[in-house]
Amino acid sequence: MEGWDTSLSEVEQRLQELLRSSGRLPKHVAIIMDGNGRWAQERGLPRVEGHRQGIQSVREVVKVAVQLGIPYLTLYAFSMENWRRPQVEIRTLMELLHYYLRRELPELQRHGIRLRAIGKLNALPRRVQRVVADALQATASNTGLTLTLALSYSGRWDIVRAVQMIAIDVRRGKLSPEDITEERFASYLLTRELPEPDLLIRTSGEMRLSNFLLWESAYAEIYVSNLYWPDFRRCAFYRALLDYIRRERRFGMISEQLGAYRLAEEIATELEELLHAVERRVH
Ligand code: FPP
Repeated sequence: MEGWDTSLSEVEQRLQELLRSSGRLPKHVAIIMDGNGRWAQERGLPRVEGHRQGIQSVREVVKVAVQLGIPYLTLYAFSMENWRRPQVEIRTLMELLHYYLRRELPELQRHGIRLRAIGKLNALPRRVQRVVADALQATASNTGLTLTLALSYSGRWDIVRAVQMIAIDVRRGKLSPEDITEERFASYLLTRELPEPDLLIRTSGEMRLSNFLLWESAYAEIYVSNLYWPDFRRCAFYRALLDYIRRERRFGMISEQLGAYRLAEEIATELEELLHAVERRVH
């Protein structure tokens, strides 16, 4: 099997170096990959073709996250609401997931990626559950990027599940209601081992959270791209990151309290120029 093409042009290397050395890259990027169906329909192709092309975007974004040393990437691959789709589409999505995890496992290993999954995993077809479990186990001790796939996931479902677990612990006397703090609550969520997302990207121009990481995204910076997911390749990812590192995250404070945290304008300009140069080479 051919591996990932990891060769980078000089200008892209420089762009990556400067992004890294800015010290402002997000620790955790979460992505709502939307618009596969529309991408295909606009080309007169079956919707599933959009999902197929979407896999290539997954590869590119994962690769860039690894290259930039972003420690956590979470992808909304299948929502609980997606079970309402036509059977044939669900089947294809499950096939693609199965294919991706089997085919990509050696590359995940080679790059030290630790795979995680959140969601109601036992709702997935058995053979998908098996391949997910195998990939989780095989990559468990890797120390590079933590790649989390949200599969049969719903933010509200996870919150309700956490409340149920807390109630059980209270009933058993393991926890008293006064001890239920925000941190304690978050420790019952499936995302407990992940930091909160700093950057939440959604493609295809929709301004919705669609039940994704509802609790966890309280302070996330939201970036909406008008591109459909199959068109969201590495340049689009760089653009989202550049947009993010130029933002001022105040966490309730005022601008003056943050002082030196702002990105120097000359670095922002150089990043912008490098990205233009990379875009010209890619397109
Ligand atoms: C949304 O587009 C996308 C999905 C429901 C699935 C995303 C899945 C993949 C990219 C492939 C498998 C993923 C991995 C991680 C291997 P949509 O169908 O809702 O598009 P629409 O809004 O245009 O109909």
